[in-house]
Amino acid sequence: MEVKIEKLDDFGRGICYIDNKVTFVPNTIPNDLVEIKITKEFKNYNEGKLINILIPSKKRIEPKCPYFSKCGGCVLQNMNYKDTLEYKKEKVTNIFKKNKLEINPIVIENANYYNYRNKISLKVIDKKIGYYEPKSHSIVEIDSCLVASNSINKTIQLIKKMNIINGLVTIRCNKNDEILIIINSKDKLNIDVDSIKEKIKLVGIVINNKLFYGEDFLYENINGIFYKISYDSFFQVNPYIASKIFDIIKENINSNETVLDIYSGVGTLSLTASTVAKKVIGIEIVENAVLNAIHNAKINKINNVGFLLNDATKAITKLNLFFDKVIVDPPRAGLTKTVIDTIKKIKPKEIIYVSCDPQTLVRDIKLLSDLYIINKFYIADMFSFSYHVESVCILKINNI
Ligand SMILES: C[S@@+](CC[C@H](N)C(=O)[O-])C[C@H]1O[C@@H](n2cnc3c(N)ncnc32)[C@H](O)[C@@H]1O
Repeated sequence: MEVKIEKLDDFGRGICYIDNKVTFVPNTIPNDLVEIKITKEFKNYNEGKLINILIPSKKRIEPKCPYFSKCGGCVLQNMNYKDTLEYKKEKVTNIFKKNKLEINPIVIENANYYNYRNKISLKVIDKKIGYYEPKSHSIVEIDSCLVASNSINKTIQLIKKMNIINGLVTIRCNKNDEILIIINSKDKLNIDVDSIKEKIKLVGIVINNKLFYGEDFLYENINGIFYKISYDSFFQVNPYIASKIFDIIKENINSNETVLDIYSGVGTLSLTASTVAKKVIGIEIVENAVLNAIHNAKINKINNVGFLLNDATKAITKLNLFFDKVIVDPPRAGLTKTVIDTIKKIKPKEIIYVSCDPQTLVRDIKLLSDLYIINKFYIADMFSFSYHVESVCILKINNI
């Protein structure tokens, strides 16, 4: 059947209407005239499959990745980069509009929208190494990933020789192309460190949470601050966008201010804020990340920060301190009710909310909206060509 794609849903799937019933068609973009086949019919919607592009949208480009449409990752690779940014801006603005909140986001482009990722995780099933197909546990085998850094792609070839039958492999790198390999597998592995070292700048290999070779951490430098990052510590996957977000943090902190950084990881936002603020406290649940953060303060000669190892919800209720600014950068699930209620009791002048999920962001902002209004809103293209969006929202206390 022939249809015109009207828009994209929040997961980057094309939407058309068949007898007024919404129909989702992956791998299509607005204004494509396409032939589709209905694959599943539900009460309120259909799912369809692209059969043929009859007249392509002006926004359409040829995806560079050979695994596009098979791999569930970069669903927007068939769209002009600038148009993917427009889509993300519109998507977040609409999510807020549906919640009766108005935003006008400033969009921060990714300078390198291919080969930008410093970390990927690959599934291994029956010796097949790759990503999951969308909505499935079948593997799309890959030789390289277009959004991963070149040094990671070189490493994929070496992983293939390690005789992993089933497991999970995470490859991390820094801007100097140093590589850390993290393997979880019960198999008897065949790892020839010397031959790996001939091909990549191998820093370490961790197998089943135990150090197998070298170091179990990497160093990265963003905006002049050095970060030690343990194999299990979180770090932003896109160093260019991370540096832009750190700039925003710095711009929004004043001297003499006290800052609470909840979900502080290896201390990135805390240390960035500390270059301006009077005092910063970070809260983080992963032990190695807190140890990294303490170490990072030391090596950067920063002595106005402290870090607490605890669950944010537990730690925040015990703090009993006033802060001028609160930074939050939670996982996708967003903030807990206790964290929100306690921030409201602290009543900072501003909350800087860094979020990787606009749905939980808007939910939390609504819960804060009796005391706070949105002052600035940024969308940073951390995850180019995927439908994911990183947002930074500056909320200021409503004194009226
Ligand atoms: C999105 S990351 C942000 C880290 C850091 N702000 C950065 O930019 O690198 C979220 C962090 O929250 C931590 N985390 C997850 N759940 C937590 C909890 N319940 N309490 C405290 N920290 C938590 C994770 O370990 C991770 O380091």
